[in-house]
Amino acid sequence: SAPRAEKICCLGAGYVGGPTMCVIAKNCPDCKVTVADLFADKIAQWQDPDHLPIFEPGLSDLVRATLGKNLFFTTDLESAIREADIIFVAVGTPTKTVGIGSGHAANLCFLESAARLIARVATTPKIIVEKSTVPVRNAETLMRIFTTNPDSARLFQVVNNPEFLAEGTAVNDLLHPDRVLIGGQTTPAGHEAVRRLADVYAHWVPRERIITTNLWSSECSKLVANAFLAQRISSINSISELCEATGADVDEVARAIGMDSRIGAKFLKSSVGFGGSCFQKDILNLVYLSQSLGLTEVADYWEQVITINQHQKARFTERIVHSMFHTITGKKIAVLGFAFKKDTGDTRETPALDVVYKMLDEGANLAIYDPKVPDELMWEDLRHGPSLSPPARPMPLEERISHVTDVYQAVEGAHAIVVCTEWDEFKTLDYERIFGSMVKPAFIFDGRNILDHQRLFQIGFEVHSLGRRP
Ligand code: UGA
Repeated sequence: SAPRAEKICCLGAGYVGGPTMCVIAKNCPDCKVTVADLFADKIAQWQDPDHLPIFEPGLSDLVRATLGKNLFFTTDLESAIREADIIFVAVGTPTKTVGIGSGHAANLCFLESAARLIARVATTPKIIVEKSTVPVRNAETLMRIFTTNPDSARLFQVVNNPEFLAEGTAVNDLLHPDRVLIGGQTTPAGHEAVRRLADVYAHWVPRERIITTNLWSSECSKLVANAFLAQRISSINSISELCEATGADVDEVARAIGMDSRIGAKFLKSSVGFGGSCFQKDILNLVYLSQSLGLTEVADYWEQVITINQHQKARFTERIVHSMFHTITGKKIAVLGFAFKKDTGDTRETPALDVVYKMLDEGANLAIYDPKVPDELMWEDLRHGPSLSPPARPMPLEERISHVTDVYQAVEGAHAIVVCTEWDEFKTLDYERIFGSMVKPAFIFDGRNILDHQRLFQIGFEVHSLGRRP
């Protein structure tokens, strides 16, 4: 039979909700898709394909193709909820910064408000989709909130449908997902709700890639997927230190082990540390959950992934200081890249911030260049400092840091270049020219191992790579 023409709404017009709804709208012309958010300026931005609030390749074309046809953006949450058959909840669940579980637990206040709003205004049957990343058994909370309104309780089914897209490839990941995961209650009504959501995805995702589980497996799998990905990075980063101490080469080791199909080659690139809005948050969430269940060994095991990540950022910076004759006080250092990874202007949990802060502590003067990070965002991050080690005292930031838009200006008169993000353009800079404009010895610390170290060495640079002896 023809798939149902579902009315879909999404609460939260952020990184997950926005692109996901665009892709649904594009592939399900029979469905009406409404994205609702409290922030009027964000909604206004989504309505202008040339100035979307987030940058993702292919996204503006998708918005252009669907906006006003079957894709709508609104600040009227209540009408959007009333009208919808399927309600995605894609509000933020950031790590708590104060109170119980501070620094670990997810802040669920936005999720609870969304649930209470749905319970208050909805009068017809709804499928509520937990899209935000949540602690395991969170759906139980939602269901309890819904039972506060007895009229609506029996009308609601909660399903979990985690998002696996990565930034910079969001549209492609949504169009061609490795898998779509839908968890639901193991009751006839639960199965029916899961089937209806699966039917939406089946418009463009092959059926065999849509997998269904119980609610708790689905919630759990999201946290575990990110924990495993981050764990691979911390694993290879821990080995980078071993390599530096022994003469092994971490990229050679990664290649050698990655060819074992049981290990696999992806996500084995040693770096100055992982960043991004999710890995750290989700692992901290997993650790907190394990601790609160009394699973001490499990919690300690996963906490170690964060510990190694913190250590990697710290030891990278220590190596800079030690190599530069044990002092960088008063020296100009060019920081290349501030985003948490290439091809995005996003800086959330960027390892660059930790490196910058440690170098400030050592008295360096910094010129930061990034092709995509907006000026205001960079200064805002700098004012806050790294989330797990915020500054103990205010830093005279403006005196010590300049944000430059020309990479050659950043390196002019610098003692060292520190690569923090793996931007492709850093590979093709005119390094002869750069060498000529720097103080000697001219150091390069490649925190992503992306440059041609042999060539740089021939030009005259003192090159330090990760996981390789100088
Ligand atoms: C990550 C996951 O890859 C997505 O599947 C998930 O949906 C998303 O989190 C989320 O939960 O929202 P994302 O944070 O956008 O996506 O970026 P990644 O490409 O995973 O990179 C994360 C960090 O790890 C970056 O700082 C990156 O530079 C670093 N990384 C990645 C390495 O240091 N080495 C690698 O081999 C791979």
